Amino acid sequence: MKKTSKWKGLALATVIAASSIVTPAMAAEYQTSVWSRQQAEKVKLTEETTAPEVDLEFDLVAPDQWVWDTWPLQERDGSLAIVNGYRVAFALVAPRSLGWGERHTEARIGMFYSKNGKDWTYAGIPYEYENAKGYMQWAGTAMLDEDGKVHLFYTATGDRENWDYNGWDKRAVQRLAKTTFGIETGKDGVKLTNEGEHEIILEADGKHYETIEQADSPIITAFRDPFFIQDPNTGKEYILFEGQAGSDRDYIKPENIGDEDYRSTHSVPEGAEKFNGNIGIAEVLDEDVSELKLLPPLLESVGTNHQLERPHMVINGDEYYLFTISHTFTYAPGLTGPDGVYGFVSNGLFGEKKPMNESGLVIANPSENPYQAYSWMVLPNQQVISFINEPLDENGHVKFGGTFSSTLKLKLDGEGSKIMKEGKTGEIKPFGANR
Ligand code: FRU
Repeated sequence: MKKTSKWKGLALATVIAASSIVTPAMAAEYQTSVWSRQQAEKVKLTEETTAPEVDLEFDLVAPDQWVWDTWPLQERDGSLAIVNGYRVAFALVAPRSLGWGERHTEARIGMFYSKNGKDWTYAGIPYEYENAKGYMQWAGTAMLDEDGKVHLFYTATGDRENWDYNGWDKRAVQRLAKTTFGIETGKDGVKLTNEGEHEIILEADGKHYETIEQADSPIITAFRDPFFIQDPNTGKEYILFEGQAGSDRDYIKPENIGDEDYRSTHSVPEGAEKFNGNIGIAEVLDEDVSELKLLPPLLESVGTNHQLERPHMVINGDEYYLFTISHTFTYAPGLTGPDGVYGFVSNGLFGEKKPMNESGLVIANPSENPYQAYSWMVLPNQQVISFINEPLDENGHVKFGGTFSSTLKLKLDGEGSKIMKEGKTGEIKPFGANR
């Protein structure tokens, strides 16, 4: 694949200087956990895991924008940031004048604020597009530090030079980026000020994480969706992200299939190895979260599922809940499951991850309305936000959403979980730290 000058330029030099790859000794500290075909085969919708139907009479939170992947401004310790009484959220946005399917290539990050966590005001895109990295800006997270600085982490997708819509997804290189802002509140709500420089903080190494040149799947590659987390038990900080297995792992190992019994009775369809998702992790080396050390993945789904999107974590004592969203269409041949949020629990950050509810499934769209919502994010108090995606009306016609969906409340109980109740659309109640 052709590299543009940007790849060879400043951005790449910054990354090489800022990142170093983990040494073999460090890699030996933990084993990448596996979401196996045997586990994923157990995925089934139950009362505990099936979301209530989306109400089709929804209002639009930003009437002239498609709004999808959403994340709140959180403090370093994971608690909800409340700035002079305001809660702040970020979401991917694109003009509604574009087609629903065209929104990804025009995605920017918009800002919302709210005093009560239910009624949100859209405050536009807080950065200058010209300053941002990537042709489009995809999902991320945001952290408010002790000095009142907002750190916005996002995915810089595609090269701005030589942009071409034709077959763009095959050239959609993704890198993790960040910028910073000051934050001000007043009679007119919340404003982000003092936009800092945008910098690339992490790129795929080709070994643990596939580069775009290595990508060999019918579905778009991934190195995206940075999630900032501070481990309350060690004080160390990390960025989690969605990746795909690099050159080291472009084959299916026995453990990707299942145990010996399962392997002796199940064959793996051809092409399953091209479905090579993983959840990456990098250690944060500085206060400003600009210097990162790439580590081997926390979890992989090689042979099982191509995409483990928007990974995020909730920490409760020694129990570490790792969540990720995934689609029906990204399951490897011979497997299927709903669009939903999947969870894996471990003792400690690097402990072996067990799929929740045996299969991994935590929240699924109902089978009668399989694409009604997407991009769930489980917050530290187990509220789950998401956006309305493609619900069906009574005639089976899709009504495109592009707005906040109802917040769900989840109960986490060791390796089990249960959807408890439904709140208001876009509702985010105050929540405390990961503890
Ligand atoms: C999930 C997702 C993210 C990505 C964004 C692009 O909905 O695929 O992984 O950042 O959407 O629109």
